Amino acid sequence: MARETWATRLGFILAAVGSAVGLGNIWRFPWQTAENGGSAFLVVYLGIVLLVGVPGLLGEFVIGRRANKSPVGALRELSGSKRWGFVGAFSVITGLSLLSFYSVVGGWILRYLLESGAAVLGGNPAYFTNPGQYFGGVSAGTDAALFHLLFLGLTGLIVLAGIRKGIELGTKVMMPAVLVLLLALAGWAATQPNAAAGYAFFLRFDPSVITENFFAILGPAAGQALFTLSLGAGTMVTYSSYLGEDRSLPLDGSAIAVLNTSVGVITGLVVFPLLFSQGIDPTATGTGPGALFVGLAGAFSQLPAGTLIATTFFAVVTLAALSSSISMLEIPVAFLVDEYGVSRRAAVLGMAGIVAVTGTVCAFNPGIFSFVAGTLVNILLTTGLVAFLLFVGWVMGRDAIEEFSSGAGSLGRRLGTPWLFAVGVVLPLFLVFTLLTHFGVDTNIGFWPTVGLTVVASVAAFLGLRQPNSVV
Ligand code: PFF
Repeated sequence: MARETWATRLGFILAAVGSAVGLGNIWRFPWQTAENGGSAFLVVYLGIVLLVGVPGLLGEFVIGRRANKSPVGALRELSGSKRWGFVGAFSVITGLSLLSFYSVVGGWILRYLLESGAAVLGGNPAYFTNPGQYFGGVSAGTDAALFHLLFLGLTGLIVLAGIRKGIELGTKVMMPAVLVLLLALAGWAATQPNAAAGYAFFLRFDPSVITENFFAILGPAAGQALFTLSLGAGTMVTYSSYLGEDRSLPLDGSAIAVLNTSVGVITGLVVFPLLFSQGIDPTATGTGPGALFVGLAGAFSQLPAGTLIATTFFAVVTLAALSSSISMLEIPVAFLVDEYGVSRRAAVLGMAGIVAVTGTVCAFNPGIFSFVAGTLVNILLTTGLVAFLLFVGWVMGRDAIEEFSSGAGSLGRRLGTPWLFAVGVVLPLFLVFTLLTHFGVDTNIGFWPTVGLTVVASVAAFLGLRQPNSVV
């Protein structure tokens, strides 16, 4: 049977945006920004999205579209070596790990949505009475496991329906809905008393972030950029492998990054005015999951049409989470379909079956949950992206530039070579640096040693890139 492709250009963009827009934007991003210097953090973060995120995204796109295969087959085929296939196999592990914790959080959200939706018909949602206690009761244990299975089931149903009828159709409905509802919520939040204090908290400009803490926030900002753009897991390799025709990858990649960042910013413009309008101190609930579920639930309980607002908000979060979780499940599913000719149905059942178990373990064990959601995912995404980028720079070489430029007009031809140098050399160095910071290694070796090392590495890279397949 012929391999499926996206029906339309917009379909591909919305599916990729759907993967990118998720809990990373709605829950993590506003809090990170608020806690790390407001708009000063935003500036650094935007710089990273532009200089690391977009080129990295294009790296994954180039692999996928060139090979028309998911990561394992793509790396093996393009390199002609089985060893690279093993590297690609990591993306299967990454996809399963991501979904194991994400589906648990998706379950919490689904529960809040159902609770709020039922209350629209009459009464108050149970979490209105004591938000902290309610969250504590439902976030781990049997309840969490059951709702995780429900969320996973929904994810599985969409992936089962295939690329066009499942993922493309689903995200074509979900993403516009997320945008419209979020904008409506932001407009409504602006009318609330004391909204200005919320904006000030979110976006105040703290210059010391740039002058004093620059190196300290590079790590978190890079981690956030990778997670939110779904980089390093092979999702973007997989999605671009269903691209049938030539189109401008740089243009599509930029559109995806812009839409993704906008959703994060708009969410901040909903969350903080709401909290401040109800006199809730956002720092009191911390940045953990509690921030979303305890702080906001408290605000909803005090608002005039609180139940309706809560239902709308949790609907947005559910759709955003679902459009991301399907992209996580598609990685291992595409692997089984592409590599072993397994039917989509059997692949979905098998892979969702594994996550049903691993997610349940996470639901019952908060220690394992936070290890998977934090350290494990961070390491897998960073090393995964480094591997993809080194592959593009050092194995694909000139072919990568050709693929990058195809359909991208003169802009593509002009940007191709600097882009390859960035993905082959600069970005991997930067990513390894951020990984070291994550492990608490003091990477601040001083300005001149950094410059010296960069020059040495660049010369070595220049010489190394002079391979038969290279451009320099
Ligand atoms: N980008 C998603 C979010 O921001 O919630 C998370 C994600 C999805 C990460 C898919 C990685 C991935 F492959």
